[in-house]
Formats: sequence, structure tokens, C-alpha cells
Amino acid sequence: MTRTRCDRTAAWSALQSAFNTEGKNFDLNAAFKADAARFESFSQQAPHVFADLSKNRIDLATQALLFDLAREAGVPAHRDAMFDGQAINTTENRSVMHFLLRKPSNVPVNNASTATINIATELAKVHATLDAMLVFAEKIRADDDITDVVNIGIGGSDLGPQMAVLALDEFVTPRKRFHFVSNVDGHELAATLKPLKPGNTLFLIASKTFTTIETMTNALSAKAWFEANGGTDIARHFAALTTHVAAANAFGIATTFGFWDWVGGRYSMWSAIGLPIAIAVGAQGFRDFLAGAHDMDEHFRTAPLEHNLPMRLGLLDVWYRNFHGFTSRSIAPYHSALRRLPAYLQQLEMESNGKRVDADGQALPFGTSPVLWGEPGTNGQHAYFQMLHQGTDVVPLEFVAVKRPKHNLPGHHTLLLANVLAQAQALMIGKSDAAVPPQAGAAPIEGSDPHEAKERGDTMPAGGHKHFPGNRPSTFLLLDELTPESLGALIALQEHRVFVSGSLWGINSFDQWGVELGKVLANDLEARLHSGDAAGLDGSTAGLLARLRAR
Ligand code: F6P
Repeated sequence: MTRTRCDRTAAWSALQSAFNTEGKNFDLNAAFKADAARFESFSQQAPHVFADLSKNRIDLATQALLFDLAREAGVPAHRDAMFDGQAINTTENRSVMHFLLRKPSNVPVNNASTATINIATELAKVHATLDAMLVFAEKIRADDDITDVVNIGIGGSDLGPQMAVLALDEFVTPRKRFHFVSNVDGHELAATLKPLKPGNTLFLIASKTFTTIETMTNALSAKAWFEANGGTDIARHFAALTTHVAAANAFGIATTFGFWDWVGGRYSMWSAIGLPIAIAVGAQGFRDFLAGAHDMDEHFRTAPLEHNLPMRLGLLDVWYRNFHGFTSRSIAPYHSALRRLPAYLQQLEMESNGKRVDADGQALPFGTSPVLWGEPGTNGQHAYFQMLHQGTDVVPLEFVAVKRPKHNLPGHHTLLLANVLAQAQALMIGKSDAAVPPQAGAAPIEGSDPHEAKERGDTMPAGGHKHFPGNRPSTFLLLDELTPESLGALIALQEHRVFVSGSLWGINSFDQWGVELGKVLANDLEARLHSGDAAGLDGSTAGLLARLRAR
């Protein structure tokens, strides 16, 4: 499998020319006027997710160049290498096979002759663990003595399960309460434990490595609290979800559900890390969640580029990041149950693609991961949407809406849908300030660099506090209903679009060396906070250390 970094392809130069001549001045409103079929051309139904990409600054010619870029960079071959079990996580020499966690046991597997792993063997292990974990989940659901489930984990061992349990609230058993403790800040664990009773609590210690200091510290404190408050049966009240079963056993936990090093932490909620989800929505609900993701996997694996939604989104991400120079993307789920989706996507995108060197370790001459951020609509509208409509930076927005609600409160859902439609529309169409007459080239109106906008000779009237420049891009993702299946598909879609942009950028999206330095320094500083030793520290750290130690 050969990968060619995006900037070393002919399509990259062609895209640069297209941007210089047309792309930088692309006008969405004009594009809709010129092409009555624009919505049809730039929208598609993928499994469980409908996507409207038509309000993005892209035309058919640019899209065709982006498909050329994907082909020249070897993205389809790279994708196939992942599905074939090749060790595409090159810095850790690991396969990347989270898709296998959602693959039904009766579907044949592809195994590349070059793969160092036997996928069929791994799939059998996946299903053996899944079956055991779902039996356990059902047992806990039926056990009315267990009223509270506390997941202790951080990063991928927290964000996915927490996001999904909240998102699937309508499917969650009312017979349990779910708590998620991630922060090493003791306030979080202390507040969680306060109303709990050991005899009614199940602790799930979730850690791929079973070494993460925050999780180990919280787990030790939870165990101490359990024993200090009369808890006796650790085997019944603690379970570990980890690839490092021996470490969990050494910690004193006998009930364990394993997974494998080919599952990245941020891709792990489909594994044993998903146990809180399985307890919450039941075995069938969890299987539906996996099935929805599998449908998206098959779409990504087999759909031609032109109709492949993760490919189209990943290519658009690169077009925006590297040609338009947009440095962030905002995500606005118009469903309050999706309120942790932005945090989940932050880790997915930024831990995967926040890299400054390519897979060969060479410094990259272009930008990679955008900053991802967001809040549920309509709350964001009354907070930061001001900046999205009238700020100096253009931030592509990704709306996620759900057609049919699960509640029957009259009026709410229509109002919610009207708002999400209105925001996408307003961002695009803009509005001139009636109080200010149009002045050709009067002031910069568009783009992250006002000087650039001036150079381009933007001619829309820019003046006036009530002027909305419009032409602000957005993508609209629509689910018919928020169910385990559709949530699974939505998340798999996001995983694969991150794969596509990472693949184009030539980086390894599956390691995270950038988190290591802080961990090492924290160990050192923990000792210094005890001893007061500031030798060799920089002035600021030494000053703060002294201040933190002062009585
Ligand atoms: O420090 C980053 C990280 O390794 C993430 O990639 C991971 O999801 C998180 O820590 C938690 O790791 P673990 O599941 O091994 O405790």
C-alpha cells in the first residue's frame, strides 16, 4: 500500500489553482441561483444519516479535483489496508480494527496476505467477549440491588460511553442511575460517592492500559470508600474493562472484560469499554448500536468515492483547512441528548489528527486538525452564534438534527427544527444593513483575514452593526430518529471522516504521543509539590510551585 502525502500530488496543485481563480471568491447564494439541482448534487443518504453538503463552498469541479486528490494520495488503498488488518498504526506497529468490534460474526472477513494479524481469530475473540459482556449487562439490569453504576475512566474510556448513555436516554433503563467519573480532581469522585451506598453500587474501572494515573487514583479511592463503608464483595461490585487484565487482577478485580491493542482508546466504546452503554440500553440495544456502525463501515468500505459520505466529509475538511485556511469547525447538535457529542468529537478529531509531522516523522508544511468545538442548539444561538454570523473568522458549522422526537410536548420540536433550519439559512444568505448604503469594496467582509478580503475586492456592503455577510458554510446531518442504530452510524461516520483527512495529510491518526510529556512532568511535579524542590525548574513553574506550597 503506497500513500502519497496530499501536497505531493498533481491534484493538490490543481486545487490550489482552482482556489486562486474561483474557490476563494465562491458565493453560495450565487451557486444556488446558478444551479437548480445543487441540493441534489451535494446531498446524499448514507446508512441512517442524511447529509446536506450543499451549503458548503464547493462546486462540482472542485469536488471532482478532491476525488482525484483522494485517489492520488491513496486514500482508498489506505482504507482497504485498515479493513485488511494491516498495521497502519505505524509508530506503534499495530493494526487498527475498531470496525471489527461491530462486525457480525457471520460476515466473512478480508485478511490481507501482508497482515500480521488473523482477522478471523480476532473476530471470534470479539464475539466471545461481546457475548459474555452482554450476559453480564443483562444480569446487572435484572439485579435490583444495584441502583447505581459508576464508570471510572478518562478520555476514550469515558467520553464515548458518557456521550452515548446520555444520547440514548430514551432507551435507558429507569432502574439504574449512571455516573461518570473522569477527573482526578477529587471533587468529582467525592460528589459522586456522597449519595451512594456500597451495597447498591457497581464500579466499572475502564482503562485500556490500566495505568492511567487519573483512573487508577479514582479507582483506588473508590475501593477504599467501598471498604470503609462496609462493602465486602469486590467481585460483585467492581468490574474492569481493559486490555491489561493481569493489572486489573493485581488491583483486586476478578470480574474483567478484555479488548485488544488494535482498538485505539478513542475508538473503544464498541468494545468492553461500552459496558455502561450495554447496561443502560440492554443487550439488544447495544447490538443495534454496533449494527448501525457496521452499516456505516460497509458504506465507507464499498461506496464509490462520489457517493461515499465519510470520503466527501473528510475531503471537504481538507479543502477548508488547507485552501480556505479555516482553523476550526463548530458542531451544533440540535438535540439536547447529544450534548456531550462535541466533547466526544474533540478527542476523536484532535487526538487523531492534531499532528505536526507525517507518518515518516517529517515536519508538515500545512495545517492539520482544526479546533473542534460546540454546544447543543439552541443554547449556542444565545451564546457564541453572534461570532459565527458576524465575527471576522469564518467557522464551518456542522448541524446535527433529528426529524422525529421522542417526547410529545406540543410545539417544541417544530420550533427546534425551525431554528436549526433558520441558522443554516441565515449563515448562508446573510442580510445587508438597511441603514448603510452599499459601498463597493468599502471594507473587508469575509474570511479570516480582513486584508485578504480587501485584496480580493469583496464588494458586498460591509458596514453597519446589523449587516450579516452571509456566505458562511455549513453541513447539515439529519437522522430520522435518535436510536442506538442511528447513533452508531453517526459516530462511525465521524470516525471515518477523521480517517480520510488524516490519510490525506499523510499522518498517523492512531497514535497520541503528544499526551506523554505532560504525564511525565506531572509525575515529577507531584514529587516536587511534596518536597518543595524547585531545582532546575523554569522561573514561572518554580514561582507557582512555591505559591502553591505556601500556607
Ligand atoms: O492520555 C491520552 C489517552 O491515552 C487517550 O488516548 C485515552 O483514551 C486515555 O488516555 C485513557 O487511557 P486508558 O484507557 O488507557 O486509561
